[in-house]
Amino acid sequence: MRSDFLSFLLVLGLVWNSLVLFCNGGITSKFVRKVEKSIDMPLHSDVFRVPPGHNAPQQVHITQGDVEGKAVIVSWVTQEAPGSNTVHYWKEHSSTKHKAHGKTNTYKFYNYTSGYIHHCTIRNLEYDSKYYYVVGVGQTERKFWFFTPPKVGPDVPYTFGLIGDLGQTFDSNITLTHYEKSPKKGQAVLFVGDLSYADNYPNHDNNRWDSWGRFAERSTAYQPWIWTTGNHELDFAPEIGENKPFKPFTHRYRTPYRASGSTEPFWYSIKRGPAYIIVLSSYSAYGKYTPQYTWLEEEFPKVNRTETPWLIVLNHSPWYNSYDYHYMEGESMRVMYEPWFVKNKVDVVFSGHVHAYERSERVSNIAYTVVNGICSPVKDQSAPVYITIGDGGNIEGLATKMTEPQPKYSAYREASFGHAILSIKNRTHAHYGWHRNQDGYAVEADTMWFYNRFWHPVDDSPSFDS
Ligand SMILES: [Fe+2]
Repeated sequence: MRSDFLSFLLVLGLVWNSLVLFCNGGITSKFVRKVEKSIDMPLHSDVFRVPPGHNAPQQVHITQGDVEGKAVIVSWVTQEAPGSNTVHYWKEHSSTKHKAHGKTNTYKFYNYTSGYIHHCTIRNLEYDSKYYYVVGVGQTERKFWFFTPPKVGPDVPYTFGLIGDLGQTFDSNITLTHYEKSPKKGQAVLFVGDLSYADNYPNHDNNRWDSWGRFAERSTAYQPWIWTTGNHELDFAPEIGENKPFKPFTHRYRTPYRASGSTEPFWYSIKRGPAYIIVLSSYSAYGKYTPQYTWLEEEFPKVNRTETPWLIVLNHSPWYNSYDYHYMEGESMRVMYEPWFVKNKVDVVFSGHVHAYERSERVSNIAYTVVNGICSPVKDQSAPVYITIGDGGNIEGLATKMTEPQPKYSAYREASFGHAILSIKNRTHAHYGWHRNQDGYAVEADTMWFYNRFWHPVDDSPSFDS
């Protein structure tokens, strides 16, 4: 009798639980990660090792160098002397070798002086090809390779990795390793801001920018990382005489902003395979008449969904976030730009900043007119899915506190470190999977089939399916 009663209570509990989930419209994962302090790896760690040889190139990284994907910007640092700023490169199986010459710069930040930072753009590459490239000279030559994307077009499959707020802790190392070992094999990383967290150190110790560059090289030298800037790229420190925002970032990392008509490296667009990717800056002015606003207004009409069906936006501070951390920080940018996102049927927005994971329903909140009181998000099949993926594993630790109850706009949330992969299959379908660090390399903790908003705009919410 007693066991029957317990069974009844258990069933009642399960029904109640599912009712609560249904009412709130979302899932808060039951997975609870053991919360430990996130600690930066010490500078003598092997992941930070300086390559052998006098003045050997280090911190090698590449990014897309034009709008269409036929150019690559190669960047690296030589510590002791300027050295060569030439990149030698060739297509696999080709006997024709090319070279391109870059530019070198240095900068000072309080009491820190950088090494010699090289940037070199190599152009007129063939699509869908493997290229080798060499930087450095003589005994310190270092050879890497990358693959160019397929020609821009609507049905070329392409797979993006998503990483944010990475930092350089032991958790960051696990995130990067899991991304590299993923059987889904990301071909380029969409990075949603906050790279090194050097600004957590006294005087923003820029040696931690160098160590981050060496740590990330094992991926950034072999596939392009598309950079978004976060608050940890600002390095704004007037108390030590450093008044120019983004100083270390702009010297170390390049973006192809001029090619898309932008006037600053922090907002720009690229096409890559079947995707049109718009990168925005949460920490640059975005109000009406500002350069970013004017640029974005002119950007949307350029998107041709017959050429690039998938419209993806990256920014740092999320618009739909139900954690207690950074709650509503993205609100003013949402108010400015959300009507454009809905009108232009953006497929997905990836953000960072909150050190956890969250995926939204397709919702919009654009009806408010000050006097009508209509200010709640509503389901909207023209709206993007908003994904917060600031869970790379940096020194600031996990965001574990959530707003309760889970808002209806939140479809899935979990306080874990991880990364995601977006595999675009064709003009209508893309598979998305989020991977938490505690699982095996192939395990996906949250998945969704995205249906393209232009070509196949039916409800694709996994909660709708169930
Ligand atoms: Fe951030």
